[in-house]
Amino acid sequence: MSLPPGLSFAQAPPIMVPFRFFLSAPLFALLVALLALWFGPSLLESRWQPSVLALTHLMTLGFLSMVMVGAMLQMLPVIAGSPVAHPVGVARAVHLLLVSGVLFLAAGFLLASPWLMLLAMVLLGGGLLVFVIAVGFSLARAASGNPTVVGMRFALVSLTVTAILGLVLASNFGWKWWLISWIQVTNLHLTWGLLGWVGLLVISVSYQVVPMFQLTPAYPKLLMRWLPRALFVLLLLGSIPWLLADSGMQEQVAIVVALITVAVLALFALATLRLQSQRRRKQSDVTLLFWRFGMVCLLLALALSIVGQAMKISDNAHGENFMPIFLFVAGFAVSVVNGMLYKIVPFLIWFHLQSLLMGVAKVPNMRQIMPEAGMRRQMWLHFLAVPLLGLSALWPLLIYPAAVLFGVSMVLLEFNLLSAFRVYRKHAKLAPKNDLQTI
Ligand code: HEM
Repeated sequence: MSLPPGLSFAQAPPIMVPFRFFLSAPLFALLVALLALWFGPSLLESRWQPSVLALTHLMTLGFLSMVMVGAMLQMLPVIAGSPVAHPVGVARAVHLLLVSGVLFLAAGFLLASPWLMLLAMVLLGGGLLVFVIAVGFSLARAASGNPTVVGMRFALVSLTVTAILGLVLASNFGWKWWLISWIQVTNLHLTWGLLGWVGLLVISVSYQVVPMFQLTPAYPKLLMRWLPRALFVLLLLGSIPWLLADSGMQEQVAIVVALITVAVLALFALATLRLQSQRRRKQSDVTLLFWRFGMVCLLLALALSIVGQAMKISDNAHGENFMPIFLFVAGFAVSVVNGMLYKIVPFLIWFHLQSLLMGVAKVPNMRQIMPEAGMRRQMWLHFLAVPLLGLSALWPLLIYPAAVLFGVSMVLLEFNLLSAFRVYRKHAKLAPKNDLQTI
């Protein structure tokens, strides 16, 4: 296998920079499954329960953001040619602060403890600040015309907005509800988190990884240029009605902006599905199937959120409004991230071994590093868990089989990642000089 053209791996950081994040993430998702089994159908009673808020953040910060942060630290030198300064120190600090911060945040919600909440705010605020500054400098230096870099910049700003709103909400949660319009602030926080941070990063990264790993044609230039910009402007416009308090126009503006946002995201999903249908190699692989499943879930989530809005159930605290959010987070975001891990991890191991063992020993190929059968087993468990999770919004008892399947799938994901990492360690020891000491 040769390196894809246009990418520079010369400045790639040591392997543990991204891997410490990748290996931790499935453990948080496993915790989500265990807590979902513990709380059971009561979770579906209201989105404002501490248990739901704890699970939400174990998933969005503990799993999704954990992988996304690691992937960004890895990808910046490769895609943007602009490495993060002191990558090992930054990765160690951000990882430690993020892991402990998420655990304290979840505990703060579950135990309704202002002091745990305060600790979580310091740890998460500190970790995300280090990350935003380190990656912000690197993105500021990068070539500005690259659509992936542009999208990543918007995603980073979105993460900053999400974190600031999250910290405001956490102070409100811990200290007696000083914030009057906290429901609006929560909705703003989750919109910037899910559509801005998660959505914009997936979109901008897909411009590189879908053609490269799934052997499809490139995304159309116009779409690459305008889609992230449009989504970011829509997020800004969508925030204005909340700032204008109850002026008469508020609801109409919000509906129009929401509909255009849905159309933009649907365009991305449809364009990706179309490119996948035009790929050069007709054989399906696990990453392709994960992405395809993710795009279908995104389309379903968008359609259901419109239906929910039209039927005025989306502001209702009960039942059906969980379905689009489950489909977005577990169906779209987790699938895409999971599929990505199955390409990035074997590729990085292969790449690092290649540079360590050149002329010394034979490097295993990507299939030997991450066997297809193990990935497929985990994928099918995930594909079964997501529909059950979505339907648990209507039949809450389904949360039990959904949590079991999701939990087992995350155990298998961790197992697959660790097995691949073991291959790396075994072979890296043969090299005269390796980067295992950076662990
Ligand atoms: C510094 C990091 C963060 C902190 C301190 C934080 C804090 C909070 C708090 C306190 C709430 C509850 C509001 C309330 O009910 O009073 C909340 C809600 C929420 N947050 Fe975060 N958050 C953070 C990051 C994120 C990120 C990165 C995402 C998504 C990618 C996210 C997604 C959500 C969602 C979806 C809800 C709504 C949950 C529901 O309606 O049940 N948060 N956040």
